[in-house]
Amino acid sequence: MSTLTEAREDSKTSLGRQLLRRKAITTMESEAADGGSGGTLRRSLGVLQLTMISIGATLGTGILVILGQAVPVAGPAVWISFVIAGVAALLSAVSYAEMAGMVPVAGSSYSYSYATMGEGTAWVCGWCLVLEYAVSVAAVAVGAGQYVNETLSVVGLQLPDALSQPPGSGGLVNIPALVVVLLATVLLVRGAKESAVVNTAIVAVKIVILVFFCAVAFTAFNAGHFAPLMPMGAAGVSAAASKVFFSYIGFDAASTAGEEARNPKRDMPRAILLSMLIVTTLYVLVAVAAVGAKDWQWFGDSEAALVQILAEITGQAWIAVVFAIGAVLAICSVVLTVLYGQTRILLTMSRDGLVPSVFARVSPRTHTPVAGTWIVGILVAVTAALVPLGALADATSIGTLFAFALVNIAVIILRRTRPSLPRTYRVPLYPVVPILGAVACVFLMANLDGITWAVFGAWMAAGVVLYFAYGRRNSRIGKLAETEYQEARA
Ligand code: ALA
Repeated sequence: MSTLTEAREDSKTSLGRQLLRRKAITTMESEAADGGSGGTLRRSLGVLQLTMISIGATLGTGILVILGQAVPVAGPAVWISFVIAGVAALLSAVSYAEMAGMVPVAGSSYSYSYATMGEGTAWVCGWCLVLEYAVSVAAVAVGAGQYVNETLSVVGLQLPDALSQPPGSGGLVNIPALVVVLLATVLLVRGAKESAVVNTAIVAVKIVILVFFCAVAFTAFNAGHFAPLMPMGAAGVSAAASKVFFSYIGFDAASTAGEEARNPKRDMPRAILLSMLIVTTLYVLVAVAAVGAKDWQWFGDSEAALVQILAEITGQAWIAVVFAIGAVLAICSVVLTVLYGQTRILLTMSRDGLVPSVFARVSPRTHTPVAGTWIVGILVAVTAALVPLGALADATSIGTLFAFALVNIAVIILRRTRPSLPRTYRVPLYPVVPILGAVACVFLMANLDGITWAVFGAWMAAGVVLYFAYGRRNSRIGKLAETEYQEARA
């Protein structure tokens, strides 16, 4: 090869090479240390707080609202759908635990993909995470809005549909959802940071209201509601499993707390497993209690099913109001945590040059990415105001499942390419667990409907356009000449 050709090749990275360029784990670690919060929170979290963080980001709209939408799909067997989705989530959760212990940085699966499969896959993963985080915040906020409205209706103050439903669902704009997201944005911009104590208190409220619901609903339990168990067959149960998968999303937001754990090797896997166990048990109990109390066909008409069940059984409006207030608090904490996670992931992608630098601009006064938070907050608020919950939740699930599948694959790749890298936690029964994890994610994706796949296809196409319009030219690693890249990885 002539010197001229070599020089040309060296100055411009080919597309194929750029897509495969990987970021060194050591570089990620040093960037995380430079951009860190000063280290005061480091290694301060024990297994209890970690478990609470995981439950805090997970338990929300899924059980409080999506359950009502999943019952007509699965019939009384909806609890089996929760078990199936829980097993799929758990398989991926252990892969997350291994990666979080090895690549303890803020970018979650985006960073894991950058370290293992290269820039192309990392971009796809990061773009899916926007579906998982930003779109799920919109979905969660719609759920919160429904509870706010349901609470107001119990005391006779229901907002008209025009102001509480999106277009296409009989309204113009969903004001309660819009307000919930904007309030969370204001808090995040101000530097509001859920301390472990506050988070633990909110998680306690969530658990108490769900246990209370079960206690009341079981008093009206009718075993006859469970026959036939699967009126829509196994297909209905699997379709509902894909729907309720949404309720398990969130434990991965907690995996970014891995570097703040006192003893991540011991505590992270325990916290992830414990939170999954608690959440799955609660979900199954609530599902059984709800269907036991009301015939499955009743659920099609209900927006905030659990509140209505409580109000009907007790005949006391105030009990339903107290429950709904707890539910709103529970859901708002998910909005806050997940919105925060989105801004952190965009910040990491921005530092890599894949999204504009505005997302990495941290205010010296509040120590938060103010501009980035407002951009995300406003876009999410508008989405929450205008799009119905079901569509948002399914889009979130498909993006998340794709990102989870990539993490399972990343575990396998890294075990092969970097077998000696220190791992604070190792997936049990390797390679069976990550393979099953990836297969379970693909199975649940396959069960989502054609419209969700079309939305996903359009989303990915938009991602490709954005990559070529911006990331390809601005990527920090992409800009390196081949020799510099090799030196950086050496
Ligand atoms: N798992 C979260 C929820 O159900 C997204 O609200």
